[in-house]
Amino acid sequence: MKMDGKTVLVTGSTDGVGRYVAAKLAAAGARVLIHGRDRERARTLADEIKRQGHSEPVFYQADLSSLAAARRLAEAVLAEHKRLDVFISNAGIGSRTLGTERRTSADGHELRFAVNYLSGFLLAHLLLPLLKASAPSRIVNVASLGQHPLDFDDVMLTKGYTGARAYAQSKLAQIMFTVDLARELEGSGVTVNALHPATYMNTTMVREGGITPISTVEQGGDAILHLATGDDVAGKSGLFFNGMQQSQANPQAYDEAARKRLRALSLELTGLSA
Ligand SMILES: NC(=O)c1ccc[n+]([C@@H]2O[C@H](COP(=O)([O-])OP(=O)(O)OC[C@H]3O[C@@H](n4cnc5c(N)ncnc54)[C@H](OP(=O)(O)O)[C@@H]3O)[C@@H](O)[C@H]2O)c1
Repeated sequence: MKMDGKTVLVTGSTDGVGRYVAAKLAAAGARVLIHGRDRERARTLADEIKRQGHSEPVFYQADLSSLAAARRLAEAVLAEHKRLDVFISNAGIGSRTLGTERRTSADGHELRFAVNYLSGFLLAHLLLPLLKASAPSRIVNVASLGQHPLDFDDVMLTKGYTGARAYAQSKLAQIMFTVDLARELEGSGVTVNALHPATYMNTTMVREGGITPISTVEQGGDAILHLATGDDVAGKSGLFFNGMQQSQANPQAYDEAARKRLRALSLELTGLSA
């Protein structure tokens, strides 16, 4: 896909792999909408992009542990841009971010489920009219190989909580949503795919988890760019990739009844069903 004249939103682009992806897309000529919580980190990235002679990205500040903040982010993008060609839902927290204890979001939901999945679910739905109007367009959900089936009797993990399980269920939820949304978007010209970018990239999330990185940010970033811009994936939708390769997710992703339950729950929690 030629990126000249295209508009791309990358959540979580003030750090890690999202930052790399945003800089590459700006270098390819896209108008990049960067997002994060920290204005200073965003300024550093914007300056770097400008210094290299590319057009200055637009920064959106939003803490995605609040659904109201996610909603305001979508509303600002819809109000300020006439098109959106690619939405990369990348912002996330790791299994040990902010410690090992169970935490909740501003809305009272388990924090990893809220930040890694629910906010992206809400953003994608709110941005759909603009994505449809800009078709052919793409949604890329940055998930993981770390996947744990959802227990629909305790999605908020009030019992037996571990950060690893919370992270892995939020990542599988992203993939289940990807498969589900792809069906809904058939014929619309909007595709949606999910991926595991790379294993233990050298990013803040991995380092603060005390894990020794084994992949580079470039490896994972290039896999995200492949789904966002690659000609070979044009028109493909509802798929899970492990890096550059199409792959299989946890079986729950292909369980229609489970996806239906997740969809109903997500519509209710985000207020979209109202
Ligand atoms: N690293 C890996 O090996 C790996 C492997 C598989 C999948 N992934 C996935 O890749 C994605 C990016 O991870 P990364 O490794 O690049 O992590 P990272 O370096 O920690 O960057 C995370 C990004 O998400 C943003 N973010 C975190 N919490 C947020 C919140 N509450 N509201 C808004 N933004 C928030 C951060 O913004 P601030 O600058 O404001 O903190 C930052 O821009 C994640 O979805 C992760 O699950 C990573």
